[in-house]
Amino acid sequence: MTVKGRTSDFRDVVESRRSTRKFVKGKEVGRDVLERIVECGRWAPSGANVQCWDCIVVHDPAMSEEVRQVFLRQAQRLRDHAKGFPAVSKNYLSNTVAIIIVIGDPRWKVCFPQATSPEWDEEYQDNNEAIFLCSLGAVIQNIQLGVTAEGLTSAWLSGGGEDATNRELSALLGYPAWMKAYGTIPVGFPVAEQDRRYRRPLEQLCHWDRYEPRQYRTHEQIDFYESTLRPFTMYRDDEDMRDWPDFAEKLGDWADAFTTDEPNPSGKLEDEADFSKPRTVGKATKARNRS
Ligand SMILES: Cc1cc2nc3c(=O)[nH]c(=O)nc-3n(C[C@H](O)[C@H](O)[C@H](O)COP(=O)(O)O)c2cc1C
Repeated sequence: MTVKGRTSDFRDVVESRRSTRKFVKGKEVGRDVLERIVECGRWAPSGANVQCWDCIVVHDPAMSEEVRQVFLRQAQRLRDHAKGFPAVSKNYLSNTVAIIIVIGDPRWKVCFPQATSPEWDEEYQDNNEAIFLCSLGAVIQNIQLGVTAEGLTSAWLSGGGEDATNRELSALLGYPAWMKAYGTIPVGFPVAEQDRRYRRPLEQLCHWDRYEPRQYRTHEQIDFYESTLRPFTMYRDDEDMRDWPDFAEKLGDWADAFTTDEPNPSGKLEDEADFSKPRTVGKATKARNRS
């Protein structure tokens, strides 16, 4: 249904939002544009309507450069201590027209449901954390869509919320260190139009009325993605992997699992295991093991 003719515009914005990591040099935008973008964040939903965020719009080129330096150090730590992850250089904080940093304020978690007897503490702490992080995800995504709607582009930079980077950012930008920079959004004009990136088929992720086990992705499938496919799905310009010239070579026996409606034709579900670490040896794992 089209509400006041807006639905298709909205879909255009959603589908054309792309993570772009190279910006045109020497461009500027006014505060009015950046305010409109942050206004999109203002309308994000949040648990108990707490609006547990603040947005620091870094517009001054000298301050942008200082922020970029923080992220260059963060990128170096990633290269040194999380080997194997196909991260790009945080140099893409160069040539931004602004960098929007979304700060989460954990004090507001007290406004979410609190346990009234100790045996329910854990249950509600988990619930509070989920509400807090999901609210921050909503504001960051609204801002990203606002950026796209202005004809600009961004990427969602996760680094910032971890202690080392957050300490540097809070010292630089002046917010209390117990607040955290959960999302850093470099904004700029893209050097080139970025095509769509890999997405699963809709029929694979959309379950009707109940969870369909044939649509389940197995532990081994996730291991294969982590060890082998990830750098290509993150950075190649094809929504459909079948358009890759080396599709058969890269996917091997996993071709159907990643591209059809039913990655798990047996319909068999698996037990919970230790999901905290990758299990199989692929390129990424080998890089980690070498260190
Ligand atoms: C929570 C989150 C954290 C992300 N962190 C980073 C990051 O640190 N660096 C980066 O280059 N991209 C980051 N991204 C962007 C993803 O890599 C990107 O969204 C994904 O590969 C799909 O590409 P697309 O956004 O162009 O569709 C992040 C995205 C999300 C949602």
